[in-house]
Formats: sequence, C-alpha cells, structure tokens
Amino acid sequence: MSSSSREWNAADYHRLSAPQFEWGQRVLNELLLRGDECVLDAGCGTGKLTRLLLENLPHGKVVGVDLSRNMATYARQNLEPGYGARASLVAADLLDLPFSNCFDGVFSTASFHWVTNHDRLFLNLYGALRRGGWLHAQCGGGPNLARLRQRVRELSQESPFAEWLADFREPWLFSDAEEAARRLHSAGFHEVKTWLEQARFAAKGPEEFEGYLGTFVLHRNLEMLPDAELRSTFLRRLVEWSMASDAPFVLDYWRLNIRALKAG
Ligand SMILES: C[S@@+](CC[C@H](N)C(=O)[O-])C[C@H]1O[C@@H](n2cnc3c(N)ncnc32)[C@H](O)[C@@H]1O
Repeated sequence: MSSSSREWNAADYHRLSAPQFEWGQRVLNELLLRGDECVLDAGCGTGKLTRLLLENLPHGKVVGVDLSRNMATYARQNLEPGYGARASLVAADLLDLPFSNCFDGVFSTASFHWVTNHDRLFLNLYGALRRGGWLHAQCGGGPNLARLRQRVRELSQESPFAEWLADFREPWLFSDAEEAARRLHSAGFHEVKTWLEQARFAAKGPEEFEGYLGTFVLHRNLEMLPDAELRSTFLRRLVEWSMASDAPFVLDYWRLNIRALKAG
C-alpha cells in the first residue's frame, strides 16, 4: 500500500463529517458503560467519537487507532491536552494490531468497510479483547451507495477517465448482515447480532455534495487521476448527474450494525 493511499485530509474530514458523527453518536448512546472501562476506538479518525467515549468513561481509558497518520495526529492534538493519559492515539493497522487481551470493549464507527479483509479484522479485534469483552460497531454495508457506485463505475469507463480508472477496484467491503455474522462466529465471537439499516443523507447543495464525495467517498478513486483539473471534472460530472436525478444530492447510505462478545 502506498503511503498516500492510506491518508485522509483530516481537517476536511473533521469539518464535513456531520453525518458520520450523527450515526456514531447514536451507536455510542446504545453502549451501557460502567465508566471505568478501557476501550479501543477502532478507526478513530479525527477523534470526534473518541472524545465522546472519553466523556462517557470518566474513570476509564480510550485508545484510538487509525491507519492514517494524518488522522491519528489530528486526534492526538485534539484529545491528549484535555484528557492526558486517559487518551492514547496510535497510528496502526487494524489488520496488524499491536494489542493482545487488553480491552474491555471495542467501539468502531464508519471504518470497517475500509478494511477489506474482515476475517482477519475480526480475528485481530477478538485477540485485542479481554475475556468477556464486547464489540459494538457500525460501518457501511449491504447496498451502501449503490446508485452512486453504479454511476461512478460507468463514468470510470468513459473518456478521459478510463485511462486511469477503467480497472480501478473499489476500496471497500460492504458486507451483508449474514456474512458478517458468519465471519464473527469464525473469529470466536458469540452472542453475535448483525443487522442493516438505511441511512439516506441529503447534502444541502452541489458544493456540499461535491465536498463529501471528494473528502470521504471517492478520494481513493480521485487519487488515480493525474491532475487537479481532471479530478474536478470527474466530481463535477457526478454533481451534474445527481442534480438531474429524482433525488438530487441524496447519498443512499446503508449501515451494518455489529454487536458481539468474547466468552468470559
Ligand atoms: C470514515 S473514517 C471514520 C472515522 C471515525 N470513526 C468517525 O466515525 O468519524 C474511517 C477511518 O478508518 C480508518 N481506517 C481505514 N482502514 C484502516 C485500517 N486498516 N486500520 C486502521 N484504520 C483504518 C481511516 O484511516 C479513517 O480514518
């Protein structure tokens, strides 16, 4: 993996990630915490949800892990001054976690679909948990963004983009609920619950829609294009397509919810 293909624009993500933050808050609000647990925030991004976890764990600790150094650094600068040793932010790969038997829980939102090997992901998370530990997560799943992805595939075959994008493989795994449950059981988890829910989101207008696509939906596709003008043309073509559709600027998100336990 090249270093650019693991990076994110942390400041733009922090500014534009209102939908992810809202979904994440709902997932977090369902957690029943004592307040002294040690929790892993897996794929913590800029740390917006990590901060909420810390607020809900006044006597606990949170370790935020993210593959992107930009994201981990942004989260560290945001959180370590206020939370001291209760917050640790680490740049690491969830597929190669440097932790074993040490967390009471793993929390994660909007990240697992960026990890395309879920068998290995779940095995790593299982290994990082203590006995009796929990996994409480949500990510993209099922038919997530199906209409947009179909249009992106078509556009990628057209001139002038095809030269760079015709063979591009999507960087996500949008698992369905049954497949995720099967993989969680194989990794050793029990009391597994997985389900999909629709989470349509309407951007306020063309600029916001383009910002979302460029910052956290299609940034990997755009990295393949050789210059800023071509990247901007690609995005503009998608904005025009969406504007002419029956649901302008709507992103047809689907979320996969995951709950599971490690035996005590
Ligand atoms: C959409 S952001 C979600 C951030 C945060 N959890 C939130 O809800 O706002 C997805 C994050 O997953 C991280 N990520 C992707 N693959 C990863 C991996 N293999 N290991 C660790 N983090 C990863 C990305 O770097 C990115 O910061």
